[in-house]
Amino acid sequence: MQPLDPTYFGDIDPPQRLLMGPGPVNAHPRVLRAMAADLLGQFDPEMTGFMNQVMALYRPVFGTQNQWTMLIDGTARAAIEASLVSLVEPGDTVLVVNFGRFGLLLTEILNRLGAKIETVSAPWGEVVPLEAIAEAIERVGPKVVATVHGDTSTTMAQPLEGLGALCQAAGAYLYVDACATLGGMEIAADRWGVDIVTGGLQKCLGGPSGSGPITVSDRAATRIFARRHVEQGIRRADIVDGAGPRIPSNYFDLAMIMDYWSDKRLNHHTEATSMLYAARECARVALGEGLDARFARHRKAGAAMTAGARALGLTVYGDDAYRMTNVTGVYIPEGIDSEAVRTMMREHFEIEIGTAFGPLQGKIWRLGAMGYNAMKHKVLLTLGALEACLKAQGFSLPLGEAVPAALAAWEAA
Ligand SMILES: Cc1ncc(COP(=O)(O)O)c(C=O)c1O
Repeated sequence: MQPLDPTYFGDIDPPQRLLMGPGPVNAHPRVLRAMAADLLGQFDPEMTGFMNQVMALYRPVFGTQNQWTMLIDGTARAAIEASLVSLVEPGDTVLVVNFGRFGLLLTEILNRLGAKIETVSAPWGEVVPLEAIAEAIERVGPKVVATVHGDTSTTMAQPLEGLGALCQAAGAYLYVDACATLGGMEIAADRWGVDIVTGGLQKCLGGPSGSGPITVSDRAATRIFARRHVEQGIRRADIVDGAGPRIPSNYFDLAMIMDYWSDKRLNHHTEATSMLYAARECARVALGEGLDARFARHRKAGAAMTAGARALGLTVYGDDAYRMTNVTGVYIPEGIDSEAVRTMMREHFEIEIGTAFGPLQGKIWRLGAMGYNAMKHKVLLTLGALEACLKAQGFSLPLGEAVPAALAAWEAA
């Protein structure tokens, strides 16, 4: 075999795409700069200091006072898996509140854990009414209730106010995947009474994928520490095993991960330093802007995108009352080649819009405006480009109306 010419592939020099789909989105430049900072050893006091700062920064982001607020190394799905594998014990009944692909992901992970799964579902494009969840909790007596806040597959946001109280009254723990809304819509872990909430950086927090912020309530931490089983090579006299069933994953063992993030500094994994810098900067950017201002910016972007899409003559997908503010589904018009439009958007305008999964594949596009991309000019550019591409593909539409409609909706929202 010929040796590979080391110059063959060239430098990484990606095109400057504007990512206006359901995530990932463009990272904030401050986040990219933070990632370029020099590396540290994992027990360097500067590094453990940064870890403690991350814990402090993510508490307000999650709306919590929880001590156990930290990062899971891996994408958002890693944080989901760490939560479920550590919280759910074999044979536990888990009620999944399901209204899209990511509810189904919870079911898929729970299946692998041998949980007894019960489901309360809404059709895609809707959310599950609180009364239906209350009735299901009453009927199945779950140990854990698991759900998603904003399910990007359907663009719906499940209302969570009151759900924690229902779970606590029934002796159940509540888990919520907030990957797609954290930093863009309010997450009130304490007020909602959620035991574990997880997120990701690549949506409303405006970072790259690869780090999963997580917060764990004290009562969930107690249950998880009761399952603590420190791996043999790093056992210590001051860290005692619990009597509960061992967590069936080493990497996602939240008991060991919490011991690593505590003053014990148990040597579990090697914290992903550059991703920690990114997560830290994402939270600093979000808190620096102010969470309320940030939620308002996402609300404006969503309202503008929705109004602009309607002015293009497109039909917006799903229940208006429960729409996520940061991603909008629109039906692909009859007879229009979806991929031709997306290709034109990419090749002529350097803009990416999203397709969809499962039953919505080929039926809707998903137009996102989140994090660093939830900006007026980016929404307007996307709508202007979409108008041109739809026209070029033969869609008959009112020209020149979408951008002013979006602008008016931005100002009014
Ligand atoms: C609601 C939701 N949960 C989980 C995920 C999974 O995130 P990741 O791809 O970072 O694992 C996504 C990603 O699109 C998501 O939208």
